[in-house]
Amino acid sequence: MSKKIIVLFAITALLAGTLAACAPETVVETVEVVKEVEVVKEVEVVKEVEAEGAMTFVLIPKSVGHPFWGDLEKGMHLKGQELGVKTIFHGPEQALAQGQIDIFDSYLSMGVDAIGMAPNDPATVPALVESAEEAGVLFLTFDTDAPESGRSMYIGTDNVVGGQQGAEAMLELLEGEGKVAIVTGGLTALNLNQRIEGFEAAAAEYADVEIVETVAHGDALETGVPLIEDLLTAQPDLKGIYAVSGPNIVVEALQSQGYEPGEIIVFGFDIFEPIPTLMKEGWIQGTVAQRPYLEGQLVVQWMNDVVTGAAEIPDSKFVDTGTNVVTPENLDDYLSVPH
Ligand code: BGC
Repeated sequence: MSKKIIVLFAITALLAGTLAACAPETVVETVEVVKEVEVVKEVEVVKEVEAEGAMTFVLIPKSVGHPFWGDLEKGMHLKGQELGVKTIFHGPEQALAQGQIDIFDSYLSMGVDAIGMAPNDPATVPALVESAEEAGVLFLTFDTDAPESGRSMYIGTDNVVGGQQGAEAMLELLEGEGKVAIVTGGLTALNLNQRIEGFEAAAAEYADVEIVETVAHGDALETGVPLIEDLLTAQPDLKGIYAVSGPNIVVEALQSQGYEPGEIIVFGFDIFEPIPTLMKEGWIQGTVAQRPYLEGQLVVQWMNDVVTGAAEIPDSKFVDTGTNVVTPENLDDYLSVPH
């Protein structure tokens, strides 16, 4: 066999392996690699393909298309490139557990090396942990946890602490009194419920703060805005709204109902656009910024290190990515560094 044939044979074999570990969406990308392969120097090509196909890590977010995930995905892919591993970010259209389970099953059967999930419903996770263990695939949670599921570890925000930090800053602005509503994304994700728990703990220190209602907007503008409009109609004397997810949805409702910026104090979570713009315009008084970019990087780094044996899972089974309370005063400083 000539050297060229041997190399092409090796490439074909490696690509077959790569394809077996890919979601249907990534096939096009792989075909492009074949084209590049034919023009690059033979020996280097094999190394490049080998590096690409070395290990495959999959992250399953709550859903795709929500701006929160952009930075996390960026961090994840960049770390993957740096380490020479393949990274796939694939979530359901809607933030529902069944969509995540279907995606999990398809990658598990393809034989990937590690799967991370931000579970929409922690109650569905123990069965997934069991299947991953049977298949010998590392399984961890990120962004939101399922602590009772047996998952190997959780990487992300301490949501009780974050919820409490934001609540304390907001209650100070409210001068410790008045009616407050809580707005959340969905009712099952643990991270959002822990943020509410953090708010309630902080509010318990103020006898004159009353939590009047909790509304779940489903993290979607179209369906969420009318629900907040109903809240504003039902509670005309609200002094503050604490949105543990999607404060921008709250602002849309305030605007449609003719409120002025600052008329109701709004605190939220996260700092994807349009949240910084709405802060500058005076609609949002503060937000608890998570670190999704760092989180994406850490998830891939830990997967790599645990799978290769370079690191052991910490005893706490928790890697805290931290939070910052961002207000209009420190907003520009915060935005000037990667987060
Ligand atoms: C949460 C995610 C959530 C996203 C959009 C973030 O605050 O950490 O879990 O999916 O908001 O809903």
